Amino acid sequence: MTATASETLALEVRDLEVNFVSGETVTYVLEGVSLDVRQGEAVGIVGESGSGKSVFARTILGIRPRGSVVDIHGSIRVAGADQLAATDAEIRSRAGDLASMIYQDPMSSLNPTVRVWRQIVEAITNRRRVRRDDARAQAVELLRSVGVPDPEARAMAYPGEFSGGMLQRVGIAAAIASHPDLLLADEPTTALDVTVQRRVLDLLDDVRAASGMGLVLVTHDLGLLADRTDRTVVMYAGRIMETGPTGIVASTPAHPYTRGLLAAIPRLSGPIQRELPAIGGSLPPLSAPRAGCPFAARCPVVQERCFTERPPAVTVADGHTAHCWAVADDQEASR
Ligand SMILES: Nc1ncnc2c1ncn2[C@@H]1O[C@H](COP(=O)(O)OP(=O)(O)OP(=O)(O)O)[C@@H](O)[C@H]1O
Ligand SMILES: [Mg+2]
Repeated sequence: MTATASETLALEVRDLEVNFVSGETVTYVLEGVSLDVRQGEAVGIVGESGSGKSVFARTILGIRPRGSVVDIHGSIRVAGADQLAATDAEIRSRAGDLASMIYQDPMSSLNPTVRVWRQIVEAITNRRRVRRDDARAQAVELLRSVGVPDPEARAMAYPGEFSGGMLQRVGIAAAIASHPDLLLADEPTTALDVTVQRRVLDLLDDVRAASGMGLVLVTHDLGLLADRTDRTVVMYAGRIMETGPTGIVASTPAHPYTRGLLAAIPRLSGPIQRELPAIGGSLPPLSAPRAGCPFAARCPVVQERCFTERPPAVTVADGHTAHCWAVADDQEASR
């Protein structure tokens, strides 16, 4: 699939840099991230804890942390609309409209003082003209489809009356209710058992197919992406290391970091450890910009220049790119 000239991308991110400034301290989180997501496309983002996956998702949505100043460069467009030029008020009024998000912590998106049916109805009527009774019926159906038992009765409850896993489902229902152009799902299923996980991911597939919504699925679990995403992006220390069709990245990874991630999979249960058993070492500090390649200190095929020169984006095959000097050399040799 290639995008036609006329197609508006669900997401278009160019050279995104995000730094948090708190007093004298600067944390350089994202260092030049670019990503396109087409309408109806599902893209997975994987990477170790602390790689910047959640910061990336929140920045797209326009969520800025309290307590620190955020210094952002680059550009972000959601369904063609410039997210960085938007004022806070615009971002708020657009929330759940162009883009919405399923959070690691569902409570962060729900209002504890409003019954859940009301919150979902609000999302449903946000962009569509739906009669209130119909919206209410749709809200109940949405709750049923994400696996909330007895949804007619449970719709009347407040968020605090749900268990963690159940609340996660409510958050998912609220996030998809508005039929956003882009859905960001940040570890959406970690709190759920395998059966419900599958049902939720099926539901996201259905919504995506029916509405042309773009999906960005953030996860530690490379295995989860296999059947669920068209493309995979591998992030490390605030940079994209490799991107390509999910099947190709999983079967023939080009970047040494991706190979390490894949080798670590069998030993993973739950969240990835900060240290990859297959690679050793840990993320570089984000207190300074990374010179060269951020993975250099842990890389089994490291070269001198990896510590000083930023690796180029090397096209390995159509749509498959790795940012790596060793891959660049291989390409050169095979010419
Ligand atoms: N408001 C903030 N101020 C300073 N640093 C921050 C802030 N928010 C996040 N960070 C830092 O940004 C880095 C990336 O964090 P982020 O939560 O995006 O990682 P992640 O890839 O989502 O990790 P995980 O897989 O554990 O969810 C971390 O080092 C984190 O400490
Ligand atoms: Mg995260």
